[in-house]
Amino acid sequence: MAFPQHFLDELMARSDIVDVVGSYVQLTRKGANLFGLCPFHSEKTGSFSVAPDKQIYYCFGCKKGGGVVNFIMEEENLSYPEAIRFLAKRAGMEVPEEEGDREASRRRQRLLDLNRDAARFYHHLLQQPEGQAVRDYLDRRQIRWPTAVKFGMGASLDSWDTLLTAMVQKGYSKAELLAAGLIVQNKNGGFYDKFRNRLMLPVIDTRGDVVAFGSRVLDKSEPKYMNSSETPVYSKRRVLYGLNLAKKTKRPNIILCEGNLDIVTLHQAGFDNAVASMGTALTVEQTRLLSRFTKELVLCYDNDNAGRIATERALQILNGSEFSVKVLQLPRRLQNGELVKQDADDFIKTQGADAFERLMNGSENGIEFRMAQAAAKYDLSGDEDRVAYCEEVSQLLAALPNAVEREIYTGRAAELARISPEAMKLEVQRVYKRNASKARRIELRKDLNPAAQLQPKERSLRYDNLRSARAEEGVLRLLMLDDSLFPADSPLQEQDFSSPLLGRVFSLLWAAHKEGRPLSPGLLAGALSPEEASHIAGICQQPESPQNAQRALADYIDLIKTEARKRAGGEIDPLLAATEKWKDKKGTGGKQHG
Ligand code: CTP
Ligand code: MN
Repeated sequence: MAFPQHFLDELMARSDIVDVVGSYVQLTRKGANLFGLCPFHSEKTGSFSVAPDKQIYYCFGCKKGGGVVNFIMEEENLSYPEAIRFLAKRAGMEVPEEEGDREASRRRQRLLDLNRDAARFYHHLLQQPEGQAVRDYLDRRQIRWPTAVKFGMGASLDSWDTLLTAMVQKGYSKAELLAAGLIVQNKNGGFYDKFRNRLMLPVIDTRGDVVAFGSRVLDKSEPKYMNSSETPVYSKRRVLYGLNLAKKTKRPNIILCEGNLDIVTLHQAGFDNAVASMGTALTVEQTRLLSRFTKELVLCYDNDNAGRIATERALQILNGSEFSVKVLQLPRRLQNGELVKQDADDFIKTQGADAFERLMNGSENGIEFRMAQAAAKYDLSGDEDRVAYCEEVSQLLAALPNAVEREIYTGRAAELARISPEAMKLEVQRVYKRNASKARRIELRKDLNPAAQLQPKERSLRYDNLRSARAEEGVLRLLMLDDSLFPADSPLQEQDFSSPLLGRVFSLLWAAHKEGRPLSPGLLAGALSPEEASHIAGICQQPESPQNAQRALADYIDLIKTEARKRAGGEIDPLLAATEKWKDKKGTGGKQHG
């Protein structure tokens, strides 16, 4: 699993961050750092920095950062081992494979082979006499044969062991079938096919591997859909149904739906850019995957309550991302005098592809969707409700970063609430100014209290003890800056750190320092999450003066040890504790007013 240390050290030595990042971003030198336009968020002035001495990058805008491996993971959308392999290839190095490694990748490949053979077998059954029931179902859903072939559809039979028998005959073991989630074990230890009497929908990733199966019953029984569970080759957070096809689309955007058969219908109707999250909410991993193929998304969830919630959640995830997002709202359909839910599949079948195309072209962006959501909450014929609506919508409008957009949508909101555009504009401006001054106040407080500035955004990374954490950050910065400042024996233990993350990073760096290896933050990628790595990169990009480094280090260590003793409790003299507290109060109080 793990790469050997000597290989990683060599790889880091051959993967200079300036060279690697420089092939993606145009960098210009400013002092000790290089700057450029951040590849991870859109900006007009470069807040993306690269520090050749520390071998890290950090964006002061979006706060993403890390070493060279993190950069490749983020930019190329790769996992840690994939990024290591990517860099090795670039550096012309061979990746040493461990025995265990080879074994794991062999097992993975077996599962993928099994899935492919199972998909072929199901597809074969669909063309046999036994596949008639599923073929009838395809007819009922108006799915034409070429479409079924394109999606690799298949039939599982009304039998307990058709697949099991066929795959065992092909040389797969029951253990492998179980690991792939294709068979299930009963209480008596016997095995049977998981998927029976269903339309089979293989889930194919962007590499073209069959990683899982979705499936649908042919009648009204439950469960309607049955999907593979998570396996070593399938994580549902990381896959989108149909993306294997949609990635080749010539259309400028990608349509996101809820259901597998919505995708099938859309592709059949010429919308070869549709993908489905298969009933689950959009995940961050899926947005990363999508960002490789498009920067424009169209959300097309069902027009019921669950669909609206899914839309709102997706908008939250996509908020502030590089994507431009539109929301395609399907109209409800009148049936027996009642308005009923409609999904993309229903809509295309009743209204046709042209109508869908028109809907898509006229579809609203995220702000319009949210404005309509707000409007739906109020009865805009009543004065009180109109006022409440204006207040709510002003919050939305004031948050728009673009002045032109703000102007346009303010006009729309005014129209809807039947008030003058001027009045609406005043209200939005009022909220905008209030938010701006609030933001300024927070910024100001950060200046006065540098510790607050360094409090990580991620809740899981929050510091319990800010004083100590600041000193801990200082120690890490100095260690990266010049590890010759440090004695041979560690002045600190991991447990002295109040922040588990900082303690962990210290241990990692210290281990390298002790062995006299270069301290490359590039290597931290294997041990830290992207959020953690970004946070550490942010710490390292804070200025630290090398002048009084020895003195600063001693102060930091002192403070950390004092705080650690306090945490351990008991050992500290109560009088001293009181003095410390008093000093604390005075310290922060003085800073706030000074
Ligand atoms: N889903 C699921 N398990 C279920 C129900 C739904 O995994 N028990 C997923 C499927 O991917 C399904 C999607 O959620 O396609 C949307 O479900 P739903 O709206 O209930 O069904 P439709 O897609 O409209 O299904 P159909 O048109 O086939 O009735
Ligand atoms: Mn449907």
